[in-house]
Amino acid sequence: MKTLAVSGKGGVGKTTLASLLVKLLSKRKVSLAVDADPNTNLNLMLGVDVDKTIGQLREDITEDPEGIPNGMSKQEYIKYQLQMAIVEGSKFDLIAMGRQDGPGCYCYINNLLRVFMDSLAEKYPYVVIDNEAGMEHLSRRTTKNTDFLFIVSDATQTGVLTAERIKGMTEELKLNTGTTCLVLNKTPEVPENLQESISKGGFDYVVTIPEDKTIAEFVSEGKPLIDLPETSPSFIKLKQIAKEIGI
Ligand SMILES: Nc1ncnc2c1ncn2[C@@H]1O[C@H](COP(=O)(O)OP(=O)(O)O)[C@@H](O)[C@H]1O
Ligand SMILES: [Mg+2]
Repeated sequence: MKTLAVSGKGGVGKTTLASLLVKLLSKRKVSLAVDADPNTNLNLMLGVDVDKTIGQLREDITEDPEGIPNGMSKQEYIKYQLQMAIVEGSKFDLIAMGRQDGPGCYCYINNLLRVFMDSLAEKYPYVVIDNEAGMEHLSRRTTKNTDFLFIVSDATQTGVLTAERIKGMTEELKLNTGTTCLVLNKTPEVPENLQESISKGGFDYVVTIPEDKTIAEFVSEGKPLIDLPETSPSFIKLKQIAKEIGI
């Protein structure tokens, strides 16, 4: 199992990249898409409905412990519910984390969920995680051990600075992020004025994805990116990137 996580500041194209990665990898085998953004929207970009997030599931069990059917242990029940929360598609499966924390202590449930999530993820050849903006998720387990960490940025100094902070934080927290890749999105190439600061960032790879009209068209028409034509510029580029960085 290989884990690919997408990180970066808000609005730079994280969910878009995660969707395109799911599309790319699903051509090989059914992969698991994990929406770790509390503003669940990866499913929208991929074109599937989510009934229940892990956060909702956790809350339901906490609020109504009596809801566990007779003859079922709490552990079995949580496992069963987790199974129900997986959206199964033909090309990929998806699970949405929802809100990660709330009032009350969820330690017991959280621990169980972690164990189940880990064993669930093991069943897939690829797990693609779309994270919320910022760095908070780095201290959560979802991005602690990855094979590839994509840090998405726009082609601006502030964007790159944020990306470098995220990279710095992964080092500070001693995370096992595997290959780190700075993705400058919506630009045909790395702008000259950013080259120096990027080279200081210590990324394993620096790649670009062009602004793609087909993405904008699909989004404005509400069409899922999983159906984006393979001839679209962003997808062609992503295929090259995957080859280059060895996914
Ligand atoms: N390469 C691209 N070409 C054109 N539009 C893009 C591209 N990448 C992202 N977008 C658009 O930019 C907006 C923000 O992208 P999104 O993936 O939602 O960002 P994030 O998840 O980082 O908040 C969306 O409207 C998306 O369609
Ligand atoms: Mg997003």
